[in-house]
Amino acid sequence: MFAVYASTPNKEDPLASLAVGERPDPDVPEGWVRVAVRAASLNMHDLWTLRGVGIKPEQFPMILGCDGAGVLDDGTEVVLHSVIGDPAWRGDETLDPKRTLLTEKHQGSFAEHVVVPARNALPKPDGLSFAEAACMGTAWLTAYRMLFVKSGLQPGQTMLVQGASGGVATALVQLGKAAGFRVWATGRTEEKRAIAERLGAHDTFEPGARLPERVDAVFETVGKATWSHSMKSLKPGGIVVISGATSGDASSAELQRLFFLQLRVAGSTMGTRDELADLLQFCALRDVRPQIGAELPFSDAKQGFEAMLNGQTAGKIVFTG
Ligand SMILES: NC(=O)c1ccc[n+]([C@@H]2O[C@H](COP(=O)([O-])OP(=O)(O)OC[C@H]3O[C@@H](n4cnc5c(N)ncnc54)[C@H](OP(=O)(O)O)[C@@H]3O)[C@@H](O)[C@H]2O)c1
Repeated sequence: MFAVYASTPNKEDPLASLAVGERPDPDVPEGWVRVAVRAASLNMHDLWTLRGVGIKPEQFPMILGCDGAGVLDDGTEVVLHSVIGDPAWRGDETLDPKRTLLTEKHQGSFAEHVVVPARNALPKPDGLSFAEAACMGTAWLTAYRMLFVKSGLQPGQTMLVQGASGGVATALVQLGKAAGFRVWATGRTEEKRAIAERLGAHDTFEPGARLPERVDAVFETVGKATWSHSMKSLKPGGIVVISGATSGDASSAELQRLFFLQLRVAGSTMGTRDELADLLQFCALRDVRPQIGAELPFSDAKQGFEAMLNGQTAGKIVFTG
């Protein structure tokens, strides 16, 4: 079948190992289902996979794509939940030490077909297109858990999103606005800040800017480049929720500020199947649709990867079959 895959790990030049071509049709294990992929979105995770981060060398070649939406063999339209846990695990599957995301152990969704455990295929809401639904399983689920499970923010409180145009960043802005938080965002260019404002941010700032007042919560995926600003932007008792470190590990943890102002730091990764179901319902109830900056055929996937690598995002990049 046709697929977009990582041929080998390549730390220095990730795009050099991106391949578009034929891969074997998948077998369908008992209790799993086959999904004909209609759309899947690009996540930074796919670039990490090309670099060989978070995946063992012996797992290559690996079909990329850790979210998606498509159709089961019986015609049911579904959204993929990417977190695949040990069937014996009970409770929050993001805490299962044996959990993997699509593309870490099992082949991903940038292909004609992907196979997942039956519980990982959720009904697609009628109101979302396949491209919109494809954004939900990774970036949007991560943003949902950061905001509604981890942050403890109350409607009316102020949140800061580090980054304005990325997949997780735009999801945080859109979900935060819909939930009644005061939403601030930083963006590296005027154009990127304008995207966040169009999506409902109440104000935007240059990276590192002094804010009009300190905030209740900061949402981090950037890491080194913004960590210090995140810690300095918090009110006493405030919380930073972090799910990524694109620019690397923080050079200073700001420990004195952390204990003296009784700040809190919460790590967050993906979300549970139930949280994905709640996210889909929330989007339907509030008529929230993910910001898609680019929609490309799978055959032009390289163009999408190049854009993300160069920081040229305007929301999600989605590939369609
Ligand atoms: N833990 C999880 O479950 C999980 C899930 C999804 C993503 N993540 C992580 O979250 C991060 C973002 O993923 P994504 O898919 O949203 O990526 P993306 O669409 O490429 O977005 C990148 C974001 O980083 C921001 N950014 C600000 N300063 C940056 C800098 N110096 N270098 C690079 N980026 C900078 C960008 O802001 P501008 O708008 O100003 O360009 C943009 O909002 C990645 O590290 C990813 O691995 C983690």
